[in-house]
Amino acid sequence: MSSKLIAPSILAADFGNLQRDIEMINKSDADWFHIDIMDGVFVPNISFGMPVLKAITKHTKKPVDVHLMIIDPDRYIKTFADLGSDILTVHYEACPHLHRTIQAIKAEGMKAGVSLNPHTSINLLEDTINDIDLVLIMSVNPGFGGQNFIENTYNKVKQLKELITSKGASTLIEIDGGVTNKNIKALVDSGADVLVAGSFVFKSVKPLDTIKDLKIRANS
Ligand code: DX5
Ligand code: ZN
Repeated sequence: MSSKLIAPSILAADFGNLQRDIEMINKSDADWFHIDIMDGVFVPNISFGMPVLKAITKHTKKPVDVHLMIIDPDRYIKTFADLGSDILTVHYEACPHLHRTIQAIKAEGMKAGVSLNPHTSINLLEDTINDIDLVLIMSVNPGFGGQNFIENTYNKVKQLKELITSKGASTLIEIDGGVTNKNIKALVDSGADVLVAGSFVFKSVKPLDTIKDLKIRANS
């Protein structure tokens, strides 16, 4: 079984000490950087944009997993590739031509991710799953860190795992929102491969130890 991955979400970092927090992730047991881009339209919040992402990727030494919570993401695919994104995830709900968007992301040399809001059914990915490198299941409503985990996520992870297996796809399953040391193991047991954790890591007293503990629990 391949190793389960931990992706701390920079949204919960101290923006006044961004380089310090990035260096912390670099030397931690974390696997990826998870970066949330919000436009204030698709979600009711604005996070940060290109200049800040550029400053971040100057220091990152691990894969950069960019989660776009924006409308019409096709406009910026090349820009995010140029800024150093390794994985680019768009929202199913924001893409009327999802198949085309996935191909455009891959054409720029990135892994293509598709995210589903809590209300969006797994079945809607039946015809695209073999083209998708990663499905990000939102386990909170997107827009803010620090929200409570939605329990129905376990059912969705199991359904998605079944779909991936039945189609012979190699898609990774990522979970985003409310991930803690309490639910991480059950998520992995349901089929999750990548666990995003924002507040639980950055609001903890010793983030390095917290990441190490999450990594152990996810792989136990
Ligand atoms: C929410 C973002 C998440 C967020 C997770 O819209 O997509 O990545 O940073 O934060 P926590 O782990 O605090 O729920
Ligand atoms: Zn996210």
